[in-house]
Amino acid sequence: MSVSNSDSMNNRYLQEQPGGNYCYKNNMKNESASRPKNVENMSKKLYEDDDASTPLLELRNVTKEYIDDNGKSITVLNDINLSVNYNEFISVVGPSGCGKSTLLRMIMGLERCTRGDILFKGQSMSGGKVNPHMAMVFQSFGLFPWLTVIENVEFGLESMHIPKAQRREKSLSIIQEVGLEGFEDAYPRELSGGMKQRVGIARALVIDPEILLMDEPFSSLDPLTAEALREEVLKVWSNKFTTPDVVIMVTHNVEEAVYLSDRIIILSHRPANVVKQVNINIPRPREKRDKVIYEYLDQITTLIA
Ligand SMILES: Nc1ncnc2c1ncn2[C@@H]1O[C@H](COP(=O)(O)OP(=O)(O)O)[C@@H](O)[C@H]1O
Ligand SMILES: [Mg+2]
Repeated sequence: MSVSNSDSMNNRYLQEQPGGNYCYKNNMKNESASRPKNVENMSKKLYEDDDASTPLLELRNVTKEYIDDNGKSITVLNDINLSVNYNEFISVVGPSGCGKSTLLRMIMGLERCTRGDILFKGQSMSGGKVNPHMAMVFQSFGLFPWLTVIENVEFGLESMHIPKAQRREKSLSIIQEVGLEGFEDAYPRELSGGMKQRVGIARALVIDPEILLMDEPFSSLDPLTAEALREEVLKVWSNKFTTPDVVIMVTHNVEEAVYLSDRIIILSHRPANVVKQVNINIPRPREKRDKVIYEYLDQITTLIA
């Protein structure tokens, strides 16, 4: 798979499933089969009612408070309830400073909730540990400047006790998948913003995350690069043979959210709660200039205070 292939979606065809779910069937030969998805879970999406199964991720009354410099408690997120099913692409939008990044960090286990609980496959994750089935892509890439591309990607695997040769093999395959072949030994300073973010995405994908968390991943890229990377992420997510099963993306760009997502979670001002969840009922592949996209865009923009 090449990141620069703008016709990436042409190799797929849309299948409508019982219950109105849509998914892509991969028309190509076992692409990226090194990162298999949980086929048992995928068949749930294909043949069963998603509501009948345990959600992949559940947030129950999640509240986050910080203590400010004066010792005063500030509630950032207040009583957030959210249920995420297999194979969903979800975006989170809301005013600046309302707690979107905090929410992603808590989902991943980088921060604890003050109250409430986060469940992954029905198991409480409130023990303060990073969830090894999740990976995060950051707006500012988060690369180590002193490490090369391959070393940055391999870093994600270091805590997983995988032998060095295997780490290298896997990292090389992901680097190829995100279109960075030939740049393995380059340092971040030698790369454009788009290439840096490809490294960020490769480093996340290399651990085979079931949930890919992305915090404004495209907002510091130029429009054309952002568009190419959006297609790539969509392609990786929609490949039923590979992880991730779910993407949860924070964005300021409502048009991007509508184009990519199955569902958009709209948060209020701080203390933030869920104002509304909007299902984006547009079959895929989607047409960027489809007037329905603009109708959703108007609806959601008016809901963001
Ligand atoms: N570690 C922290 N200590 C104190 N306050 C914090 C901390 N992290 C975030 N905040 C505060 O929580 C609020 C939400 O931050 P953030 O999640 O980054 O918002 P968003 O991503 O929606 O812009 C902000 O007011 C921020 O100052
Ligand atoms: Mg943020």
